Amino acid sequence: MDKKFALYGCGKAGLSVALALKSQGYEVVGCDSRSLNSKEMGSQWLACPMIKIPEEVKENIPIMIGVSEDAIPDVDLLIGKGEYVSGRVVFHLSGALPSRSLNRCRLSGAKVGSLHPLMILPDPLTGARNLRNATFAIEGREQAVAVLKEMALSISGKFFIIPVKGKTIYHIAAVNASNNLVALLAESMYLLEVAGVPRSETGKAFQSLVEITVKNFYSEGPVQVLTGPVERGNLKMVEAHLRTLSKLPKSKEIYRILCLRALEIAGEKHPDRKKIYDELEKLLK
Ligand SMILES: NC(=O)c1ccc[n+]([C@@H]2O[C@H](COP(=O)([O-])OP(=O)(O)OC[C@H]3O[C@@H](n4cnc5c(N)ncnc54)[C@H](OP(=O)(O)O)[C@@H]3O)[C@@H](O)[C@H]2O)c1
Repeated sequence: MDKKFALYGCGKAGLSVALALKSQGYEVVGCDSRSLNSKEMGSQWLACPMIKIPEEVKENIPIMIGVSEDAIPDVDLLIGKGEYVSGRVVFHLSGALPSRSLNRCRLSGAKVGSLHPLMILPDPLTGARNLRNATFAIEGREQAVAVLKEMALSISGKFFIIPVKGKTIYHIAAVNASNNLVALLAESMYLLEVAGVPRSETGKAFQSLVEITVKNFYSEGPVQVLTGPVERGNLKMVEAHLRTLSKLPKSKEIYRILCLRALEIAGEKHPDRKKIYDELEKLLK
């Protein structure tokens, strides 16, 4: 497989991934972007010519699309026009959108895919460095997946494949693991404040607890790491928690839903506690 590609969209992600690939022996045959400024910057960072994509990209060279999600439909129309992309791999870097969002390219015969780096890419240099530790989520047509696997292997060696239909669920999972974890930690800080702990203390109060829980979660798994009133089957305590939260409906809802999820994990850990867990479930529903 030829280690070559072209880049459309010289933003933070496009340049970071392109730079990381270049450092692993890939050749960037050329770059293009909406603005001349970005195009020039791309050409300097990647030491490649400014070209017109797709017209000036030779056959069979993959095209990487590094534009923001809301621009993907426009860029899909631009790149997918005519016969230029027929038979070649065209892929984007979005975590939220499936490869099917490159519909015009697909109809023009491209093998579409997506390569989502699970990493923060704040600028090309830091981004390329961060990518050495990134895991890549890959999705798309078979030919695209083969090319994207090679790319992920050469940058960090870490990737997983998402079935084409699973991309949106994948993104929801990533939102839960990152954004919603932030929201949950903020909720804990809020409840500490409600409990009367000064705001200056709430930030660090749970830090060690959270860090050890996360570390153990990944070394031992959820079933081993789960403790607490739900896991112990302490009906009275959960009842008291729900009563206390009755004046804080949003907090009560968050607590209730998460306890129901914890109950499922607890059920795996202690099948012998089914009776008390069934009662807990009734209470929480
Ligand atoms: N940055 C990250 O940490 C990160 C990590 C993983 C994945 N991603 C994904 O990478 C993609 C790009 O994100 P980014 O952070 O690199 O954004 P960015 O730095 O803002 O770059 C956005 C790019 O989109 C182009 N663009 C915007 N609107 C356009 C339009 N209407 N038509 C054509 N091109 C347009 C811009 O072109 P011009 O500069 O020429 O105007 C620019 O190249 C997103 O899908 C994002 O989810 C980002």
